[in-house]
Amino acid sequence: MSDATRRPDLSGRTLEACLEPAIAEGGDKSAAARTVLALATACIGISDLIALGPLAGSLGAVTGGANADGDEQKELDVQANDLILAALAGTATAFYASEEEDAIMTLDPAGSIAVAVDPLDGSSNIDANVSIGTIFSVMPASPDGASASFFRPGRDQLAAGYVIYGPHTALVLTIGDGVGLFILDPASRQFVKARTNLAIPVSTREYAINASNYRHWTNPIRLFIDDCIAGSEGPRGRDFNMRWVASLVAETHRIFSRGGVFLYPADNRPGYQSGRLRLIYEAAPIAFLAEQAGGAATDGTAPILDKIPTTLHERTPLIFGSLEKVNRITGYHVDPAFERSVSPLFEQRGLFRA
Ligand code: AHG
Ligand code: MN
Ligand code: MN
Repeated sequence: MSDATRRPDLSGRTLEACLEPAIAEGGDKSAAARTVLALATACIGISDLIALGPLAGSLGAVTGGANADGDEQKELDVQANDLILAALAGTATAFYASEEEDAIMTLDPAGSIAVAVDPLDGSSNIDANVSIGTIFSVMPASPDGASASFFRPGRDQLAAGYVIYGPHTALVLTIGDGVGLFILDPASRQFVKARTNLAIPVSTREYAINASNYRHWTNPIRLFIDDCIAGSEGPRGRDFNMRWVASLVAETHRIFSRGGVFLYPADNRPGYQSGRLRLIYEAAPIAFLAEQAGGAATDGTAPILDKIPTTLHERTPLIFGSLEKVNRITGYHVDPAFERSVSPLFEQRGLFRA
């Protein structure tokens, strides 16, 4: 294959070209689309750093600092946050919220947009060269100020997306009219449209959960997973497969490409009463994408997009993916028909103990 045939056709397919109609609309839509372009530029810089790996320094090293949630900050968490902040300068971003910033920052007080980000998702995977990502949420800035711009339902988002840094770098984006997939073309340094109207496949037998927390889960989650594990011999009557990458973006990308469901539920460990993932800059943007792709996202009982945060780094249980699977898991939480005691299989395990 010659270099010429290997080059993607960019005409009308760059992110910039695809966002042109939104930019032409004016108002919030236009400001949001321009902000997405700035975020995409920052992500190209982050992608460059990640591609260098150890040649860019110790990206996975702990800085000695901690974010507001108590997580250790890694070198790449901080650098990604700095790259995003730099790219947002000169945009209409009034308020900036980040996993790596304790409080909301005011960038341009006259701006009309509020941006929330997880600059680097999946930090534990940096040194392992496993896919990691950036997640972003774009809101209209509220006339009532910084807090009001973010402490509102995720349904108010103007745009949301993530960039996954994997074998290739990809952007998955919604501006409220479906979900598009853009691939970073390293030669032109442009995100190029690869697919429009992404839809989460409905019929996959895959689930993603950190099963090491089994003993800490609540009954509805245990029962759902017990039923999956029981496979063709259990009430579901078919076999399932489990995956856990420990990068939310990577799980999301897999679910967008072949379906399934992701669960990071609440559990009984101290500090995990609302799970691990943050509502404003992790769960809400992923939920917006999921709904736009025909899927769903819930905390077990309420749709994620209806939840109103009251603190910046608030956590939420997150269950999202194929609509039918998410509805079924909600059933385990709210429908008495799903109520029963935890798995007899699990309880009998003691019989086999020495
Ligand atoms: P972050 O690196 O931004 O702190 O997010 C990590 C999150 C998420 O990506 C992943 O789903 C989850 O943490 C993994 O948690 P466990 O280590 O508890 O499995
Ligand atoms: Mn994260
Ligand atoms: Mn992060």
